[in-house]
Amino acid sequence: MGRNAALGTVLNKRILLIIGGGIAAYKSLFLIRVLAKRGIASRVIITRGGTEFVTPLSAGALSGDNVYSDLWDLTDEAEMGHIELSRSADLVVVAPATADIMAKAAHGIANDLATTTLLATDKRVLYAPAMNVRMWEAAATQRNIETLKKDGALFIGPDAGAMACGEFGEGRMAEPEEIADAIEAALRGVTTLDGLKGPKPLNGKSALVTAGPTREPIDPVRYLSNHSSGKQGYAIAGALADLGADVTLISGPVSIRPPANVNLVKIETAVEMLAACKAALPSDVFVSVAAVADWRPAECGAKKIKKNGDSPAPLILEENPDILKTLSTAENRPSLVVGFAAETNDVIKHATAKRLRKTCDWIVANDVSGDVMGGDHNKMILVTEDGADEWPRLSKQDSAKRLAAKIAEHFA
Ligand code: C5P
Repeated sequence: MGRNAALGTVLNKRILLIIGGGIAAYKSLFLIRVLAKRGIASRVIITRGGTEFVTPLSAGALSGDNVYSDLWDLTDEAEMGHIELSRSADLVVVAPATADIMAKAAHGIANDLATTTLLATDKRVLYAPAMNVRMWEAAATQRNIETLKKDGALFIGPDAGAMACGEFGEGRMAEPEEIADAIEAALRGVTTLDGLKGPKPLNGKSALVTAGPTREPIDPVRYLSNHSSGKQGYAIAGALADLGADVTLISGPVSIRPPANVNLVKIETAVEMLAACKAALPSDVFVSVAAVADWRPAECGAKKIKKNGDSPAPLILEENPDILKTLSTAENRPSLVVGFAAETNDVIKHATAKRLRKTCDWIVANDVSGDVMGGDHNKMILVTEDGADEWPRLSKQDSAKRLAAKIAEHFA
């Protein structure tokens, strides 16, 4: 019986499974088994590229059926012509769906058995994309997916996380059980994409992110602040939301646009930021990116300080609350607390000490001796109890995605 009880009982259906040329092909072998347990038979086509990753013999042994791969093979064609093959199933599933196969299908190119079948089929097609994050994000791939969606295709995944190529981000094929759920839903007549969207790794988790500088008033028109642009914190808030988290972004004054899918709370001072953070608890994760001013003027008069020819009275400063430390020692402490450390020298040593001092779980250390503050790139080092993991120089968006993927992995 299907694992997804909500979907009902045993199905007596057949899918045509097209296995494309990607490392995720091994998961498609597992998919055949998962489907068989749910009463869904698979007839398999493997593309030329697919045979570089899994063999027709394994697919045939698992499906208990012939496996087809060559349009020009007389035996294949005599047993079942490509038109018949395309109609012999209740649903066509492409897993892994590579950028190449989707590009061809979107444009009606039919130069091998898999693409010919996709062009000839009169059945609904479900794609489980799998590719490198940059290929996934490429404008051409996204355009092709829109075209396929307009033509009625369904999609499951991809998920975000660590990839076989060593990068992080969206592009990892959905897991076999998830694909099987989507197949069951499609076989039972679900035709809207929303019903088939894969669950995101941070669904059900809440995240609190601080970003930007704080502004500490000296008088009604003057303040103490710093050069923080908010770019990194905003990118992290957006990346966590993209992975399904419910994100509250508490931001000091910045001039960039907030991500669309977060709850933005605007504050000015450190004291206001702390109050907003406390009000946002409980939260599963806290990422403290804000460049909180360490001190504030002890007094802020109601009137502008006037020039009177003499040197002004010295500014008396008092310490601001440490928001990171306050939250990491709070009774309702988020289960994962991530602090940031801007360092100019001995980065790992200082960051390691800061992790302990602030009682946070991770510290993201940034070498700010270069163009980091206000710039678009950085080179982060993630310091955890397991040691220091040095990341390459990345755009702040990519660093954010990588950190969000790490956070998702932590909760997985
Ligand atoms: O050592 P430092 O206080 O600069 O550590 C930086 C980390 O502490 C960052 O995560 C920053 O957001 C946080 N912080 C804070 N409240 C402060 C000062 C820093 O939350 N008053």
